[in-house]
Amino acid sequence: MRYNETKLAAYFADAPEGLGLEYLDMARIPRHISCIMDGNGRWATSRGMQRAEGHKAGIVALREIITACVRLGVDVLSAYAFSTENWNRPQREVDLLMHLFAKTFIDELPLLKRENVRVVFLGDIGALPERTRKVFEYGMAECEAHTGMVLALAVNYGGRAEIARAARRIAELVRAGELEPDRVDEDLVAANLYTAGLPDPELVIRTSGELRVSNYLLWQIAYAEFYITDTYWPDFDRWGLLDAILSFQGRERRFGGLTSK
Ligand code: IPE
Ligand code: IPE
Ligand code: MG
Repeated sequence: MRYNETKLAAYFADAPEGLGLEYLDMARIPRHISCIMDGNGRWATSRGMQRAEGHKAGIVALREIITACVRLGVDVLSAYAFSTENWNRPQREVDLLMHLFAKTFIDELPLLKRENVRVVFLGDIGALPERTRKVFEYGMAECEAHTGMVLALAVNYGGRAEIARAARRIAELVRAGELEPDRVDEDLVAANLYTAGLPDPELVIRTSGELRVSNYLLWQIAYAEFYITDTYWPDFDRWGLLDAILSFQGRERRFGGLTSK
């Protein structure tokens, strides 16, 4: 996607040693960057604060990463906000997260409008508490005509649930006589995922040091590059993002083939 050089330079001014835009190949910015935003709770408890404070700080970090990705001309930024397994947390924390999601989306609508960001949700948002769901639907509609970066928020998302849902949808087509089983191929499965129409993530960033995918985009990350940092999500910022992209650009992606050198 196109980017504005002046705004980009301004956003990444005063870079720490070794991290400036001059190291970046603007022709090879990942089209789709995905963040597993982990470590909010530990960020808070390590400071003697309540976990809730970590989630609030995590929202500030997400705002910075959204802006940074827009400045860099990224096509799609996706972010894992709530997994199908996160319902297992204490009710109080689930309630707080659902409240924060709704509040944040309203608060950040001006930013999304100003930056021309379109919003889509990955996951079953129909099963969310009514207010959160309504705010999501309202916000999504408000941003529908935007033509800039796509922000894909994974909320009540699980990779296995998503693949089972795709299988169910395809099975329905077969049962209705609209599809022959031998026409089921990778493209058809992909078209029945929440990410239909979006490019697969090229770079997946996980904060807080965990070396696992936690049921995230299982189909779509088949050939993604991983970047894992010990930084807790609330401390992840534009410089962390730049470091992740530089790491990505230093790698050779072979997709099962042989080295090009
Ligand atoms: C990520 O931070 C946010 C959500 C999963 C909602 P965590 O809440 O998982 O923070 P940690 O991993 O307990 O530190
Ligand atoms: C993954 O983080 C889900 C999100 C970031 C929303 P978790 O904190 O839920 O993952 P686990 O439990 O450590 O695998
Ligand atoms: Mg966690």
